[in-house]
Amino acid sequence: MVRKAVFPVAGLGTRFLPATKSVPKEMLPLLDRPCFAYVVAEAVEAGITELVLVTARGKTSIEDYFDRSPALEASLEASGKLGLLEEVRAIARHAKIVSVRQQEARGLGHAVLTAAPAVGNEDFAVILPDDIVDGSPPAIGQLLAIQADYGGAVVALKEVPREHTNRYGICAGSWQRPDLMQIQRMVEKPKPEEAPSTSSIVGRYVLPGRIFEILEQTPPGRGGEIQLTDAIAVLAAEGSVRGLSFQGQHFDTGHPLGLLEASLYFALRRPDYAEGARALLARQQQQRDS
Ligand code: G1P
Repeated sequence: MVRKAVFPVAGLGTRFLPATKSVPKEMLPLLDRPCFAYVVAEAVEAGITELVLVTARGKTSIEDYFDRSPALEASLEASGKLGLLEEVRAIARHAKIVSVRQQEARGLGHAVLTAAPAVGNEDFAVILPDDIVDGSPPAIGQLLAIQADYGGAVVALKEVPREHTNRYGICAGSWQRPDLMQIQRMVEKPKPEEAPSTSSIVGRYVLPGRIFEILEQTPPGRGGEIQLTDAIAVLAAEGSVRGLSFQGQHFDTGHPLGLLEASLYFALRRPDYAEGARALLARQQQQRDS
């Protein structure tokens, strides 16, 4: 039973500068809640009970978001905004939060290794907050179901155009089901002409505790950073890694247009925003045509 999920949130968010000079990219709003709230909701829905945040200087507002806020609660109560009050209180009730600090930016593999003392020697999930997935069941839940059946490690896969392979971890192997790859090779951000396939890793993983021992031995790879992909590749060579082509809509909210696309997608699906969103899209269209 996987109980813990690691969320690497130490990144600088350079693609959102200057906004991220003072606001962590994870706290940028997707409609009325921070991006980070969506991935936490996904984990909680999938039965994860302990969230391990790998943070850095300047990121304390992420922890504050999940804490009680007595002054805000008192003010909402005094003004009779009881619906909002309950919503604000519920955020702090969701799951247990532990945070560890990554003191140097040495890559995703290093960030995950930093979480080792909080995870221990058990299977755990890794969720990259830039990847927001609207899935039912939740994307990480789909991976956990595969891990419950087959054991080993599981990563989320999505097909990408060959010219984009240098943005992702790429996996190759044999499809044991139309949606399930037995992975043999994994390469971090290969050039299009060197990519062994076009199956890219989306930021959802289920990993065994043993990955920490492997990460300790993993030398710097692409970009001079310790890559999580390189460590999982060791397990793949042993035949214990599967890739799931998951069901659901995926958005890369790590850059402004991706966040805008996700905002429109969710606005059009939320009953309280759909009508307004359709009206503003129509207005934009009219302005463009005139
Ligand atoms: C990371 C991983 C990469 C994966 C990607 C998914 O890259 O290193 O293998 O495909 O996340 O979002 P990053 O986006 O941090 O450069």
